[in-house]
Amino acid sequence: MTRAMTSSDTPTLDALLAGRRKGYALDQAFYRSPGVFAQDMERFFLPEWHFAGHVSEVPEPGDYVLFEVLEESVILVRGADGVVRAFANVCRHRGSRICLEASGHVRRFTCPYHAWTYQLDGSLFSARLMGPDIDTANLGLKPVPCEVFHGLIFVSFADAPSSFDQMRADLDAPLAPFGLERTKIAHRARYPVAANWKLLVENYNECYHCAPAHPEFTRADPTHMEADRVAPLNRAMEGRARELGIPTDYIDRVGPDCPPGSVDYTFSRHSLYDGVLTGTEDGQPVAPLLGDLAGYDGGASDLYVGIFNPMLIYCDYVVIYRFIPLAEGRSEQEIIWLVREDATEGQDYDLARLTWLWDVTTVADKTIVQSNQQGVNSRYYEPGPLAGMEHYTQRFLNLYADRMSR
Ligand code: FES
Ligand SMILES: [Fe+2]
Repeated sequence: MTRAMTSSDTPTLDALLAGRRKGYALDQAFYRSPGVFAQDMERFFLPEWHFAGHVSEVPEPGDYVLFEVLEESVILVRGADGVVRAFANVCRHRGSRICLEASGHVRRFTCPYHAWTYQLDGSLFSARLMGPDIDTANLGLKPVPCEVFHGLIFVSFADAPSSFDQMRADLDAPLAPFGLERTKIAHRARYPVAANWKLLVENYNECYHCAPAHPEFTRADPTHMEADRVAPLNRAMEGRARELGIPTDYIDRVGPDCPPGSVDYTFSRHSLYDGVLTGTEDGQPVAPLLGDLAGYDGGASDLYVGIFNPMLIYCDYVVIYRFIPLAEGRSEQEIIWLVREDATEGQDYDLARLTWLWDVTTVADKTIVQSNQQGVNSRYYEPGPLAGMEHYTQRFLNLYADRMSR
């Protein structure tokens, strides 16, 4: 029997990892120890790539948005040269936050504390009353690694983050027809979840729970069914997709299959049920077709950029998932809905219809993940065996254990 734990009796992380049983859920300490949480963040979560924004949020030079996670605040700004860059929102004088508003437009950044000012490219422009000897060249805002991929802005807090090169080589062509760089954020919502962040990620990665937990989702999407029952649906969808020029490439480069030095990524397309065109309550279109698509193939693409940024690309909208750790037992699930950039709310799409499926699904996930955490906290909790349908959850746990052991 596993004893309920307190922060004072956490085994060391090395001991926990050494005692881990492959193919099983993790021990309790992985989900509730403050010490493990701190190491999760430093060793695994922060160095990964994070979806931080969309280029449509910063259309003009001088436009900025903040991306904030844990203690970090990052300024995403479009420079005078049109390039989107990321800088730590930390003044090089005595460290004050520089931007206090979540978004805005500036000619230069001015620190609210003593009014040092910085150019849009991060360089120090003036340091009030500091005299001529100040080393301006070395006091620019610290850059944060940043990549723009099909209009999606990602940042990483690693010193030497993984590369996007191989992913671009593999995914640029199959992603092009969806025109993700020509979308905009229609809505974003955060769902507080009283659970460890890993339970959210584990839950997202399996559809074993979909049949019991998600009646709305399983009416539209057969992902929860056994492979041999889904195969004919996928074959029919592939035929329709081919005619419409919708890519159905299957590319899976995660963990052991990830090229050395590369970000992990996956891309695939799966069929919805017959007659279901997109992820809505009635299966009918909700927004203008994305990018260059000429029609509905009745499919949806799963895209992962890194392991923490899953996206689902329907023909007329996109949902992006974000897992936001707050503390060992507290997280947020953020859902971001993208539609074509020229779509107007109320005219080209109805927000309630657009967000219905992934709102109702996320609300249900919040409930099951919180119950999962409560059970895990019990002295009677003992990690159980994972099902075949939990293959991707297992892969996530293997990857987690592997990267935490390095
Ligand atoms: S802390 Fe920014 S100017 Fe002093
Ligand atoms: Fe779910």
